Amino acid sequence: MKARHPWAAGLAGYLLDLSRFANGAPANLHSLMKYRVIRALAKRVGATCLIETGTLHGVTAARCARVFETVLTVELDAQLAARAAALLAKYRNVTVYQGDAVALLPQLLAHPGAGKSVVFLDAHYCGGNTARGEVPEPAIAELDILARSRDRIAGIVIDDFRCFGVEDGFPSKAQLLAAAEAYFPHPDFAIRALCDQIVIERMARC
Ligand SMILES: C[S@@+](CC[C@H](N)C(=O)[O-])C[C@H]1O[C@@H](n2cnc3c(N)ncnc32)[C@H](O)[C@@H]1O
Repeated sequence: MKARHPWAAGLAGYLLDLSRFANGAPANLHSLMKYRVIRALAKRVGATCLIETGTLHGVTAARCARVFETVLTVELDAQLAARAAALLAKYRNVTVYQGDAVALLPQLLAHPGAGKSVVFLDAHYCGGNTARGEVPEPAIAELDILARSRDRIAGIVIDDFRCFGVEDGFPSKAQLLAAAEAYFPHPDFAIRALCDQIVIERMARC
């Protein structure tokens, strides 16, 4: 059978997500819709940088390279990171880091391009040859680090909310939300659940 073009696969997943929305059915968003969530958040908050933890093949980083001035992405698996870096080399505004997101996040946040950032937290084992860090789902440790550079954070998208409290070693949903509320409190930030994601958004001051 002929392999589907990645563009067609992206569109098929997007249309499936739309149909699930329209029918009120649960949707674990496909990559194109995830990108659109990130892009819409970035437009609302005026972000110029995307920080992504968990690069995998660089699909989201490549899409975001066209809308952010700076894209910084970190992947734990050395082979995946090298392959993504090669694929993303044509985007001069993208930097791929290899290592554990928890260890490297402070370095990414200190990057001169990371002034007003949207952060996509997506670093965890997802089957096949992907990596499993010391902490299987480091979102809470990542939120802790991000909170220490809160001034640079315009928004955060935490992916795969359904897996919290379900997958081995993932903190519970309640623990994740408690951390989000503690580190990014109202009224400076709004926290929303959107399908399978938690979206944290900096609120404009009146
Ligand atoms: C769900 S995939 C990322 C998908 C990617 N964000 C995208 O939108 O195309 C998760 C990736 O995180 C990587 N990973 C797992 N633990 C990590 C960690 N502690 N630090 C950085 N990357 C990690 C895995 O190897 C895997 O490639």
